[in-house]
Amino acid sequence: MKKIGVLVSGGGTNLQALIDAEKSGIIKSGKIVTVVSNKEGVYALQRAKNAGIESAVITRKEHGAALCDKILEYLKEKQVDVVVLAGFLAILEGKLLEEYKDRIINIHPSLIPSFCGDGFYGLKVHEAALEKGVKVTGATVHFVNEITDGGKIIMQKAVYIEDGDTPEILQKRVMEQAEWEILPLAVEKVCSEL
Ligand code: GAR
Repeated sequence: MKKIGVLVSGGGTNLQALIDAEKSGIIKSGKIVTVVSNKEGVYALQRAKNAGIESAVITRKEHGAALCDKILEYLKEKQVDVVVLAGFLAILEGKLLEEYKDRIINIHPSLIPSFCGDGFYGLKVHEAALEKGVKVTGATVHFVNEITDGGKIIMQKAVYIEDGDTPEILQKRVMEQAEWEILPLAVEKVCSEL
């Protein structure tokens, strides 16, 4: 059983999908042992608490350039094997990437290589997709390396754009039809193959 650490920055609906997938047995090769937020007071922390999972808040405000080293220290202390970025909106760097090479995975709300890289996160991704006028978007789960959204792709799922979509409507459809489904499946795949 691999120990999973989930990194979050916001509402945590992808964290919830992981918690639910563990309960329902979709994730059976790993267990979420801790949740780390780089933002105080976010709802993802409440979700962790509700599920009885311990959590920590490690912020850039407090740790500055040492943020990733602090997160690494904490993950090692908790003996985390696999790190999942579930709506974690800071860029990881340094030793953390080296020590967890091929063991950090991220969910991104587009079909990479479209609408990804620095500056593309959250609603901005969906704004860009609508602005471009693409008819199909989706979500991607990939390994994290030093290139933003540039690591090896693990899983993708396409989602159709519909007439009248706003960034908010599209974000919700991509979450419901793609993110919440492929993130747990990809986590199980990575844990089972490790
Ligand atoms: C999700 O749509 C996730 O794909 C996106 O942020 C949202 C977080 O929602 N992540 C990125 O844009 C990463 N570049 P959540 O907190 O409800 O899971």
